[in-house]
Amino acid sequence: MLVLGIETSCDETGLALYDGDCGLLAHVLYSQVELHADYGGVVPELASRDHVRKAIPLLRELFRQAGIDAGAVDGVAYTAGPGLIGALLVGAALGRSLAWAWGVPAVAVHHLEGHLLAPLLDAEPPAFPFIALLVSGGHTLLVWVGGVGEYRILGESVDDAAGEAFDKTAKLLNLPYPGGPALARLAEQGNPDRLRFPRPMTERPGLDFSFSGLKTFALNTWRSLEPSPDNAAAVARAFEDAVVDTLVIKCRRALRQTGIGRLVVAGGVGANRRLREHLRELAVAEGGRAYFPRPEFCTDNGAMIAYAGYRRLLAGQCDDLAIRATARWPLDSLQPPGPVVQS
Ligand code: KG4
Ligand code: ZN
Repeated sequence: MLVLGIETSCDETGLALYDGDCGLLAHVLYSQVELHADYGGVVPELASRDHVRKAIPLLRELFRQAGIDAGAVDGVAYTAGPGLIGALLVGAALGRSLAWAWGVPAVAVHHLEGHLLAPLLDAEPPAFPFIALLVSGGHTLLVWVGGVGEYRILGESVDDAAGEAFDKTAKLLNLPYPGGPALARLAEQGNPDRLRFPRPMTERPGLDFSFSGLKTFALNTWRSLEPSPDNAAAVARAFEDAVVDTLVIKCRRALRQTGIGRLVVAGGVGANRRLREHLRELAVAEGGRAYFPRPEFCTDNGAMIAYAGYRRLLAGQCDDLAIRATARWPLDSLQPPGPVVQS
């Protein structure tokens, strides 16, 4: 079964072709980062318009790269939420319409399910069940993953997402957008022994996170120092160490509580080098193993949507002809794949 995947939930237009026998045939990605850089964040209306501009040329490029004809597609998967509603509607309308025109089934995919299943695209995928740490610009979640569509949220952020905290802290240090990777680069030059930031919510039991206080702590520390490159690097390093340490402490707790050793790290912050190193060490120390999707599949992409859609279409799930997109869609409301009975 050959599935076209379409991702347009935020500021990346991603398209991919996944085949049940041959794996990923091709994937293309266009990032709107430059478009939003002047504004210091994603402008929803501009994002929607840019998806409209880029989707069809990218689709043509995808088929060209894969060297196949659109007639070979057996199903279409598109991100239907959660995300920016205008941006989602572009991918949903395109995906649903193409499926109708080609006479093949279409399936609406949950963006976070895409992230959670992205490591299954790798040559050595983790077996179910596994624990997933999903750390992106919009989400920080610890999830027990029993199978496709079997998700139990163990903990989540009560305020800012980890990526959001990276971006906001980077902004106060006057780093360019998007801040996460820039802050991580600056932290490389920072003396780790100069400053120490708190590890929020690690003193009490539980698996929830809170990162907004850490951002305020960084702001107050930065204001109390001489504005010099050395001090900026020390703040960046102390902030990164605090976020990484906090995530490691909660992951250790989750592995011990569940008795599961397989830890999957997904989402854009999963590209952070120091976080990867520490989580790798943690999983080994706990007698397990950490799994990371390839960096290009950590951030938003069409391949993860094509794969998640493939798993659902294969089980007979497909949608009616309505074009559906939803800005809010709780992850734990998902069901394992299977034919959907419309009421
Ligand atoms: O998953 P993603 O591409 O988009 C969604 O939010 O869905 O994640 C983007 C987030 C941004 O907040 C970005 O700053 C952060 O991931 N990020 C990083 C790094 N690379 C990307 N944060 C810390 N260190 C990095 N190396
Ligand atoms: Zn994402």
